[in-house]
Amino acid sequence: MADMLSSSATVASVGGGGRVLLPSATKRAVTRSSLHLPSLRSSSSSSSSRSLSSSSRQMSFQKLQSRPLFQKRRAVVSSASAAAAADVSQLKAAREDIKELLKTTFCHPILVRLGWHDAGTYDKNIEEWPQRGGANGSLRFEVELKHAANAGLVNALKLIEPMKTKYPDVTYADLFQLASATAVEEAGGPKIPMKYGRVDVTGPEQCPVEGKLPDAGPPSPAAHLREVFYRMGLDDKEIVALSGAHTLGRARPERSGWGKPETKYTKDGPGAPGGQSWTVKWLKFDNSYFKDIKEQKDEDLLVLPTDAALFDDPSFKVYAEKYAEDQDVFFKDYAEAHAKLSNLGAKFDPPEGVSIDDPVPEKFVAAKYSSGKRELSETMKQKIRAEYQAVGGSPDKPLQSNYFLNIIIAVAVLAILSSLVGN
Ligand code: HEM
Repeated sequence: MADMLSSSATVASVGGGGRVLLPSATKRAVTRSSLHLPSLRSSSSSSSSRSLSSSSRQMSFQKLQSRPLFQKRRAVVSSASAAAAADVSQLKAAREDIKELLKTTFCHPILVRLGWHDAGTYDKNIEEWPQRGGANGSLRFEVELKHAANAGLVNALKLIEPMKTKYPDVTYADLFQLASATAVEEAGGPKIPMKYGRVDVTGPEQCPVEGKLPDAGPPSPAAHLREVFYRMGLDDKEIVALSGAHTLGRARPERSGWGKPETKYTKDGPGAPGGQSWTVKWLKFDNSYFKDIKEQKDEDLLVLPTDAALFDDPSFKVYAEKYAEDQDVFFKDYAEAHAKLSNLGAKFDPPEGVSIDDPVPEKFVAAKYSSGKRELSETMKQKIRAEYQAVGGSPDKPLQSNYFLNIIIAVAVLAILSSLVGN
């Protein structure tokens, strides 16, 4: 399975200017033509997967649009889209399968990129679904997979396809986002407050036009990031936090045109070897991305122009510095921004979406007022809760320690006053 992620993987075309950015003194440009670009061939010889071969590249745009990547799944695609989108038990089971897949293939990074690229086409200025783009499963269609920015993502789709077959009531849109959030969490990142029930688009004609995702090497990286992310309704803090996802994974010259063919951190995998990572431990989700792009000391670590902008631009820098210093703050902001990204443009069924996380057991702080030897009975908890609520409080928030003291003082003052009045 890991072979599916090998460097011989499909490349639709090379985007981002085809330049390898080398950190510090040895920065040099490698033109696209000087990079070795493999033929547009799928790494898998499986007949179920359709390769983006050079002959398919020559196909007319209309012909491509009408052809789903996995033709035999078409019935599944339409029936799933017609059904209610959220099946909690299937979603939970799919999550367990994704965890197993991660353990054997180490595909965390590409699954995160898959979820982001499905959602990141959203345009807040367009109201209609699915014209507004976003997390709607459109990235499963060949016409969108062939966008330059999506080079290599066909490999992620191949990993997701068996789950779609096994859990037909889960939509592609949900599977992409479930896979991404699970990958972040399993890599050691924060718990992401996700909801599910995204409806899938039904045909390739509903795919967004090319050019919605950010370019890694635009003339003014900070302005470009703002233009693209503001269009999605995201702000500076969210741009910086989400960029922190590059703590995972690598760039490969034969996919995006960025990164070295291999470094000391990637030559032995895990998973398919090669590429250039942003961090030393590129399968661990932490705040090392911010530390590394700030320092730019290690020539084996990647810094894209859009990464460098996070410390060059004064507004981005405030957040980037904070995240380099404090992983807890990064995790909190990342989890919120990731959840928001995963919902962009999505149409939910039911409209409010569903959670697949078990409810957190009630935190009953009032228990500390018991003897401490045994748990309070439910009746006692209800009684205590009612008493707290009667004074406008809640047992979930411990009262100030001087609360009872204040009552005693008030009673004492009243007693003194009434005795004075009595006299
Ligand atoms: C800020 C603008 C962004 C730019 C310009 C950008 C650009 C890129 C590029 C050029 C690659 C290399 C792809 C390859 O060669 O295989 C990449 C990989 C990646 N990106 Fe981004 N990205 C951006 C934002 C994001 C965001 C918001 C996320 C997730 C929330 C993300 C997650 C990833 C991951 C996990 C990888 C590694 C994929 C792998 O190892 O297979 N990126 N990105």
